[in-house]
Amino acid sequence: MTRVAVAGAAGRMGRMVCAAIEGAGDMELTGRADPELGTAVADVLGSADVLVDFTRPDTALDNARAALEAGVHVVIGTSGFDLDGLRAAARESRANAFFAPNFAIGAVLMMRFAAEASRHMERAEIIELHHPAKLDAPSGTAARTAEMMDGDVPIHSVRLPGIVADQEVILGDVAQTLTIRHATTDRTSFMPGVLLAIRRVADLPESPVVGLEHLLFE
Ligand SMILES: NC(=O)c1ccc[n+]([C@@H]2O[C@H](COP(=O)([O-])OP(=O)(O)OC[C@H]3O[C@@H](n4cnc5c(N)ncnc54)[C@H](O)[C@@H]3O)[C@@H](O)[C@H]2O)c1
Repeated sequence: MTRVAVAGAAGRMGRMVCAAIEGAGDMELTGRADPELGTAVADVLGSADVLVDFTRPDTALDNARAALEAGVHVVIGTSGFDLDGLRAAARESRANAFFAPNFAIGAVLMMRFAAEASRHMERAEIIELHHPAKLDAPSGTAARTAEMMDGDVPIHSVRLPGIVADQEVILGDVAQTLTIRHATTDRTSFMPGVLLAIRRVADLPESPVVGLEHLLFE
């Protein structure tokens, strides 16, 4: 049994991650850290093999550092935090770190297809659409997609009620466009990816590993 604690356990993603862990036969939920629950990350590390973090851009790195210093592997879903800080902390630790800007399989495929398409079409732009409570813009997924694509790819951010997390990559060339679109209907779309990362984080070939594609295709 892998013992897993969740940071941000009272949040929209954290609540769902706790339920997914409780539903997994090979995992035990050993801690729920969240200021809203009166429990700090430091309080849950002693009984965990893996910490999962879905918190805020300004707290995720501190949580990851605390886990790594305690020898606890960390799986991070929080977007917009300082990735270079994570790289530095991971170098100092025997525990591993994994971060995915997007844990949904369809989003990972969208990013891969967009990268491939950008090698063949003249220009591209990204529209990312999220719920209005999202703190960072552009989204981590959009930033990572643009990074993987050829050329300068502008990103447009839309924040509206009724949306969970969608992204459109539009590519244009002579007399044609190609649109690659990924849409989610609720946050359960992320759970298979999160569980996969929890299962694999102890055995990563390097640390940190960034992107679910490394667990799915390589
Ligand atoms: N990688 C992905 O696939 C993916 C998918 C969805 C959301 N996200 C990201 O996950 C993060 C969380 O999203 P959300 O919608 O659940 O947000 P949310 O605001 O609903 O939840 C965040 C929770 O973190 C708690 N928190 C704040 N500081 C904390 C700390 N120091 N320690 C522990 N908990 C703390 C808050 O009290 C809150 O309950 C965001 O950065 C979002 O962009 C990533």
